Amino acid sequence: MLRNDLLEQWDREHFFHPSTHLAQFARGEMPNRIVTGGEGVFIEDRDGNRLLDGFAGLYCVNIGYGRQEVAEAIAAQARELAYYHSYVGHGTEASITLSKMIIDRAPANMSRVYYGLGGSDANETNVKLVWYYNNVLGRPEKKKIISRWRGYHGSGLMTGSLTGLGLFHKQFDLPLPQVVHTEAPYYYRRKDDAMSEEEFSDHCAAELDALIEREGPETVAAFIGEPVLGTGGIVPPPAGYWEKIQAVLKKHDVLLIADEVVTGFGRLGTMFGSAHYGIEPDIITIAKGLTSAYAPLSGSIVSEKLWSVLEQGTDTFGAIGHGWTYSAHPIGAAAAVANLKLIDEMGLVANAGNVGAYLNAKMTEAVGDHPNVGEVRGEGMLCAVELVADKANRTFFEPAGKLGPVVVAAMLKRGVIARAMPEGDIIGFAPPLCLSEDEADTIVKVTKEAVEEACAAL
Ligand SMILES: Cc1ncc(COP(=O)(O)O)c(C=O)c1O
Repeated sequence: MLRNDLLEQWDREHFFHPSTHLAQFARGEMPNRIVTGGEGVFIEDRDGNRLLDGFAGLYCVNIGYGRQEVAEAIAAQARELAYYHSYVGHGTEASITLSKMIIDRAPANMSRVYYGLGGSDANETNVKLVWYYNNVLGRPEKKKIISRWRGYHGSGLMTGSLTGLGLFHKQFDLPLPQVVHTEAPYYYRRKDDAMSEEEFSDHCAAELDALIEREGPETVAAFIGEPVLGTGGIVPPPAGYWEKIQAVLKKHDVLLIADEVVTGFGRLGTMFGSAHYGIEPDIITIAKGLTSAYAPLSGSIVSEKLWSVLEQGTDTFGAIGHGWTYSAHPIGAAAAVANLKLIDEMGLVANAGNVGAYLNAKMTEAVGDHPNVGEVRGEGMLCAVELVADKANRTFFEPAGKLGPVVVAAMLKRGVIARAMPEGDIIGFAPPLCLSEDEADTIVKVTKEAVEEACAAL
């Protein structure tokens, strides 16, 4: 293709990039990267750089780039039937087959899948379903949703409220009043040093219990959480956390939404993170790995318990007043069917567990003892390196978060993409699930060099 030299200028003048410092970008103070291709765990940009994508886009390209099976499935669907809606009982072969495939893979007692386009709209749907559920049950007061600080659930009005990161609230008049936040299961940053992991989990459960009591259990509808905190810093839960949290939720008759947008379809080395941690959710949010981002598609997997009340509701109130034009879009559904088949054929769930454990072990070995690395942590194909000014006291650099972006830039120079997480000073890794041990070695080697270079320059 003929090179368009105006592209970079058009980018700065006309493209509103999400999650970007708008003024710096417009002024040309930060680079733009125009991505042109990808294969396996690598992407290419139009300056000819080939980069190992240690974050799988936004932890979503789970099968890796350039998989022709999925591209062919999308093309075939577009040729045969690019679109039909799914209102009033309409479906396509792809959307119905996909629903069966998802329920077959989901934890027990899951019943139906409602489809959206991304994780944010799926969580919006979930909150509406929870509210509808309590209205049908004659409990109109039971509407509040509890989320955790550092949770990430999207950036819509409700989902941006659920997200427990200040950046997503600031100047947007969020959170909405129906949302209440509780403590993050962030053992490394516990206030009481003497606590064991189990004790810290007890503490988180006690905090949740006290919060529900304060708010009034009759006003609290649901709790939402990611099995492993993702954007909030890649934080696996402390031992016993989910068991203790679920006991509190059961006690107060509060529904549990497991947000598996990142952990669904293999990232933790199990098909779902819920199975990994013994979570028994009422609703599961899925997106990202559902299609490996080859096409936009998300879903809300609804349990039997919830579904039976939704059915009851429509018998009383008529057809459910919820739907998107693009719900169960055939192209997204075809991409997802091909993607889930490929995950099975390539053995990616097992690979995520095995190579993920390898990556975490090698990362710990390489940088765990560095004086400015407070902790290396992870689960499955998720890994994080938390940077500190003082290891013994776990103190942040001033300003907090200053080193991560420098390390990430030093990694990029060496051909590896990692992500400086938005809160704290944390470098995150969430590579495609097809990562090999050799590729994991490259990520680790480059991380070590970049941490050393960035710290030497302090
Ligand atoms: C756990 C979780 N939930 C929801 C979302 C929102 O998904 P989307 O960006 O597709 O709206 C994300 C996105 O990163 C996520 O990580």
